[in-house]
Amino acid sequence: MGALSIRNVRKTFGHTEILKGIDIEVEAGEFLILVGPSGCGKSTLLSMIAGLDTPTAGSIHIGERDVTHLPSKDRDIAMVFQSYALYPNMNVAQNISFALEMRKVAKPQREEIVQRVAKMLQISHLLDRKPGQLSGGQRQRVAMGRALARDPKLFLFDEPLSNLDAKLRVEMRAEIKLLHQRTRTTTVYVTHDQVEAMTLGDRIAVMKDGVVQQFGTPDDIYSRPATRFVAEFIGSPAMNMIQGMRSGDGLSAQGVQLALSQEQRGGLNGSSEIVYGLRPEHLSFGAQGLPGTLTMLEPTGPETYALVHTPVGLLTARVPGKVNERVGDPVMLAWDASNAHLFDAKTDARLG
Ligand SMILES: Nc1ncnc2c1ncn2[C@@H]1O[C@H](COP(=O)(O)OP(=O)(O)O)[C@@H](O)[C@H]1O
Ligand SMILES: [Mg+2]
Repeated sequence: MGALSIRNVRKTFGHTEILKGIDIEVEAGEFLILVGPSGCGKSTLLSMIAGLDTPTAGSIHIGERDVTHLPSKDRDIAMVFQSYALYPNMNVAQNISFALEMRKVAKPQREEIVQRVAKMLQISHLLDRKPGQLSGGQRQRVAMGRALARDPKLFLFDEPLSNLDAKLRVEMRAEIKLLHQRTRTTTVYVTHDQVEAMTLGDRIAVMKDGVVQQFGTPDDIYSRPATRFVAEFIGSPAMNMIQGMRSGDGLSAQGVQLALSQEQRGGLNGSSEIVYGLRPEHLSFGAQGLPGTLTMLEPTGPETYALVHTPVGLLTARVPGKVNERVGDPVMLAWDASNAHLFDAKTDARLG
């Protein structure tokens, strides 16, 4: 039995089914990510894990215990939300120790916990300040401190970094990861940001329209996306998608013949309309290949994103360092066919 089991959970608001049967098993100590576009049902699912709402059907277990109908306060969980909801009139130390006080933890022990948590989050020097005297990042730490003080069975995060600026977001992301490596508390973390999902998750559930499209390790999800949606959602720049038809031993797309390996051909299962996906890092400029015109360059420093207009559409190549060609130049795009991801154009399911 895992640390958290979500079994066939459904949720209907009015006449609309928002969650359509979610099954997820989380192992003890695991960092689970729920990722998907806004409105796909992530917060709804998290609030049922937290006990702030009840599923229409299905069950939720924390450890051995069926908590489906258990009030939030009896679940031994701690939550950090996007809005930190700190008590404005309490200082940092009081904010961190408040939940302990409510649980009748003795004062000396409370003080010890506050000191330990503050040290872990490097906010020991801020304990006397009120939330209004803190920066966004410091408030974020206090909110995490409040959750950490509890030493819960389960940590729940709902987009905790989305109010921070880009640089701080990257720093806090690393801190959350380090913190988890230290405490190994089982964690469920909601985000719409695929980079956060990939960098933080032991495993990731990619959601769309109330359905888990794929549940796996970051490597599974990146290397073998189960659906066209997952393939396009995870990875930046996004995977290039070329619409093709079975033709001879390969595919035909806008008059261009795309080769398939024997293994790829074997995996087509009779599908005739195929989406042929290529990650930008698998495209390079070659002496031969698909002809196109360089349309735009986006240098990032260590690598450059090159947009190339081709007969099969606008393709993005991600090349190391700088690009010598200029906008308007004719170029040839080359790739190894075995790197292509194939999807059925009708069902969006991965082929092979
Ligand atoms: N209490 C509610 N009543 C009606 N609809 C809701 C309620 N809560 C969420 N929804 C709807 O459920 C869908 C999923 O919402 P949510 O779980 O917040 O998405 P996410 O967190 O993935 O952005 C949205 O369409 C939202 O409008
Ligand atoms: Mg949400």
